[in-house]
Amino acid sequence: MTRRLTIAIDGPAASGKGTAARMLAQKLDYAYIDTGAMYRAVGLLARQSGLDCFDGGAVGALAARLRFAFHWDGDHLRIFVDGRDLTGAIRAEAAGQDASAVATLPAVRAALLDQQRALAQDGGVVMDGRDIGTVVLPQADLKVYLDASPRERARRRTDELRRRGGSADLDQVFSEISARDHQDRTRATAPLRQADDAILLDTTGLPPSAVLTRLLALVQARLAAS
Ligand code: CDP
Repeated sequence: MTRRLTIAIDGPAASGKGTAARMLAQKLDYAYIDTGAMYRAVGLLARQSGLDCFDGGAVGALAARLRFAFHWDGDHLRIFVDGRDLTGAIRAEAAGQDASAVATLPAVRAALLDQQRALAQDGGVVMDGRDIGTVVLPQADLKVYLDASPRERARRRTDELRRRGGSADLDQVFSEISARDHQDRTRATAPLRQADDAILLDTTGLPPSAVLTRLLALVQARLAAS
């Protein structure tokens, strides 16, 4: 039987992680765990509960109570939190900013870390985020760091928000994701960085199908080497 790998994909906002990780998981028939969706859900629920997104005690206690589950719906992954489908609600760029705020809190990260590791424990999983290769799954079989130029990332996110029916201004999205990347890279706990043993893949100018082809080649190479 072919070995079922544990694959970590990290990178900055709108670098194409989500699309690539989802396509790769589907192709390999692996589970896909979108850890950004978990931080987005905590940010959204903190705001809905009237909490300050930088209040470690309160938001950490909230995160520790939540139970996360991911289910495929055709080609899409849906996230359920305590049985509630939050898939659509977490995608606004404002939810991304709240996610980045709660993601600075060590208590929130500790609460999600246990659940993320439990979701990956059986292998056959693609997990994407900011700290998967460095903190969550340091023993992953394959680590990839996806990046793209800041302008291209802003364009992709603007297009995505418009496709979802929202209005999005390119310059505003550019400054929002730049601010979020800065916060993610400079926070004290589990900052965004490329793991020493991660493979860098620059997706600037590459369509999703080309990114998938490269990832599948990396998976094949890893399987052949083991
Ligand atoms: O989709 P996008 O790349 O914009 O972001 P995301 O992956 O949905 O993550 C939203 C936010 O959650 C990020 O800006 C990070 O602050 C935080 N996050 C994190 O700290 N650690 C992770 N493993 C995943 C996300």
